[in-house]
Amino acid sequence: MSEDSIRELVAGSLERIRAARTLEELEAARVEVLGRKGALAIAGKEMGKLPPDARAAFGKLLNGAKQTLEQSYEARKRSLDEGALSRRLDGEWLDLTLPAPGPRRGHLHPITRIQRELEELFRSLGFAVLDGPEVETEYYNFDALNIPATHPARDMQDTFWLEGGNLLRTHTSPVQVRGMERLGPPLRMIAPGRVFRNESVDASHEHTFYQLEGMMIDRDVSVAHLLYFMKTLLAAIFHREVTVRLRPGYFPFVEPGFELDIQCLICGGPGCPVCKQSGWVELLPCGLVNPNVLRMSGIDPGEWNGFAFGLGLTRLAMMRYGIDDIRHLQGGDLRFLEQF
Ligand code: PHE
Repeated sequence: MSEDSIRELVAGSLERIRAARTLEELEAARVEVLGRKGALAIAGKEMGKLPPDARAAFGKLLNGAKQTLEQSYEARKRSLDEGALSRRLDGEWLDLTLPAPGPRRGHLHPITRIQRELEELFRSLGFAVLDGPEVETEYYNFDALNIPATHPARDMQDTFWLEGGNLLRTHTSPVQVRGMERLGPPLRMIAPGRVFRNESVDASHEHTFYQLEGMMIDRDVSVAHLLYFMKTLLAAIFHREVTVRLRPGYFPFVEPGFELDIQCLICGGPGCPVCKQSGWVELLPCGLVNPNVLRMSGIDPGEWNGFAFGLGLTRLAMMRYGIDDIRHLQGGDLRFLEQF
């Protein structure tokens, strides 16, 4: 083997090493050039075939070649190692200035919020906050409220009857009766709670919804008192004066009975889909307590009278937050609830 062919081998091998683009390619080149069966090793075996006086020079040449190639290999390896490291660092890079996603906090249901606001308001006006059972007797839900057995509200369609003659209360009015029995006159009470009706569910009807009952019994209570409290209540909820009107309404437990409407908060009067183009929204049935109701609870209607109202908390929440489908409120969908 000639000196020239050694030089050629070195040149080719250097080329091979420099061309390696990855650590794997470089390793393959190292095996081919510097490995035990590589090009240099094969050239070393040639030395035995040379005449003895030429061997020393050839050996020197081979050693030089080996050194050159080893240095070249080391240099390439360092550079590829650095590349691999910086690529890895790039990949694992964290932006520590990015804001972390905050902890997910729960909050109160919109109806609970309105309920609590109203409890606070009425407490400040001297009203007691009372609670009553959701499973009621026929007496408290109907009879004691002057609802005769023939009244349509007793229709099987509206009431969930339970075995044994009890029922799921269809309104919070039975708590009026319990309040009168327990506390007697003079009386100022509210009773927020869940009520149930055997209705088919659609965008504006639910079988389960919330009311807030109110009652005030004293001497010489008039419709003016009723209106004052109703307007105070509505201003607190909507954070502004609302225009109201009274229409006659029939409820066996009040006389006279009214439907209190508010001017539509969405359109302000001219008419829109929410108020069904009428400009008014029915919100608050109320009236002066029927003397029969007082009498049945042991209160003398000759001395005492009062007003009562049954606010639809669910309807109110829908008005305040512009919710157009009642089913959202009990749907339990966080995408809905998280908006409040
Ligand atoms: N309890 C009646 C209802 O559910 C509402 C009401 C309460 C009306 C108090 C008058 C007075 O529908």
